[in-house]
Amino acid sequence: MQKKYANCLHVCKKYTIFAAIFSFDTYTMELPFAESWKIKMVEPIHKSTRKEREEWLRKAKNNVFLLRSEQVYIDLLTDSGTGSMSDRQWAAMMTGDESYSGARSFFELKDVITSLTGFKYVIPTHQGRAAENVLFSHLVKPGQVIPGNAHFDTTKGHIEARKAFAIDVTCDEARDTQLEAPFKGNVGLEKLEKVLKENEGNVPFMVLTITNNTVGGQPVSMANIKATCELCHKYGVPVNMDSARFAENAYFIKTREPGYADKSIKEITKEMFSYVDSMTMSSKKDGLVNMGGFIATNKEDWYEGCKQYCIPFEGFITYGGMNGRDMAALAVGLMENTEFDMLDTRIRQVQYLASKLDEYGIPYQRPAGGHAIFIDADKILTKIPKEEFPAQTLTCELYLEAGIRSCEIGYILADRDPVTRENRFGGLDFVRLCIPRRVYTNNHMDVIAAALKNVYDRRESITRGLKIVKEAPLMRHFTVELERL
Ligand code: F0G
Repeated sequence: MQKKYANCLHVCKKYTIFAAIFSFDTYTMELPFAESWKIKMVEPIHKSTRKEREEWLRKAKNNVFLLRSEQVYIDLLTDSGTGSMSDRQWAAMMTGDESYSGARSFFELKDVITSLTGFKYVIPTHQGRAAENVLFSHLVKPGQVIPGNAHFDTTKGHIEARKAFAIDVTCDEARDTQLEAPFKGNVGLEKLEKVLKENEGNVPFMVLTITNNTVGGQPVSMANIKATCELCHKYGVPVNMDSARFAENAYFIKTREPGYADKSIKEITKEMFSYVDSMTMSSKKDGLVNMGGFIATNKEDWYEGCKQYCIPFEGFITYGGMNGRDMAALAVGLMENTEFDMLDTRIRQVQYLASKLDEYGIPYQRPAGGHAIFIDADKILTKIPKEEFPAQTLTCELYLEAGIRSCEIGYILADRDPVTRENRFGGLDFVRLCIPRRVYTNNHMDVIAAALKNVYDRRESITRGLKIVKEAPLMRHFTVELERL
């Protein structure tokens, strides 16, 4: 026993001498990055066979929206309402006030929104498109023109359903997917001015979407937000900020735009909102909740107008389609998601996936966006013509390969031109790999990248796309039915 101890001591001494000689201080390892949270609750997910997936996809008419969630292994359909709430949010749910009117949870939520945005009037709605519905019901008349940096499909849908026109004024950099530019979500100011000039008196507002989802979750710089608002205001046009991913946008301003590195995310969001006249919000994204939305503004006349539509469509103005407990969880979610560490964890995960795709040479909208990677399907399935929907075809291939559900953000989502009824092939054709917040680990990212590499490696053999057999006149991608050619 004693001998053993002596031996041990000898080894320790030797080690100390070794450590001293090689001065371990100089070799101190930098600690790797890790998530700013730990996991408290898990949900099992299941793999399937290719044969099963072939059958399921056939039954879903080659539209992944029509799959059942149990048929999906890793779900990248959307980051909307699919995130994990924190323990603090779940705790807040218990304290929700369900009073029909004047609920405490509403006033707590309103105070948080006012502190982050500076807006004093707040109308809750059941989700983002409901906020659009209420605000646009008050503002949009047939024949009007609403410019925006790539309106999201529901935004465009609510404009076109009112026989008005959504005109895209996104900067040209966004169209070159391989160009590395920090703020590809920006508004093209010359394009915007042209629309404002040509339609003077017929533009009820402009929609500024941050981050710009449709072109790849690309951010808008503070300088561009400011210049866009100045330009619109010069023409007497108010600006509504579609704010679904406002916190991610603030993260990119902090990390990419000169002058903002030392500002907090909350200071940055306050400045972003100070330039615009109102916001519509899908709380299902940067609000970190599964359901909810709101409108906020300082314009009293808009608030009064919105009230008239909130009550019949959504509910009384202090709940507008939300439970008291959901408003309580949202108030906490908004505060949490405007903390740098939370955003840093999230966006680094998206960037991690991008780095794997770089390794395999798979083209995507560069640089990686805030909430998703947008795969450039046109550059991968080069044998499939536009008319056969390359991005939708790739979405199906990725599902067949590994049960990964992604989403087409391309020619199907673009809908038909409301006047000519032709498909709109003018934009980009992406497959969006959308990462839910606080849900998957980087091991899942490795699986996604490997599955995509397998499809990429056999891209030359994919020569036939899809044909639409049934579609809705508006927002067709949700329910479209397709046939394999
Ligand atoms: N605006 C943007 C920029 C969006 O991305 C969305 C929804 C909405 C408005 C509508 O909000 O879903 O709460 O009604 N985007 C989801 C997505 C559906 O998958 O990107 P909602």
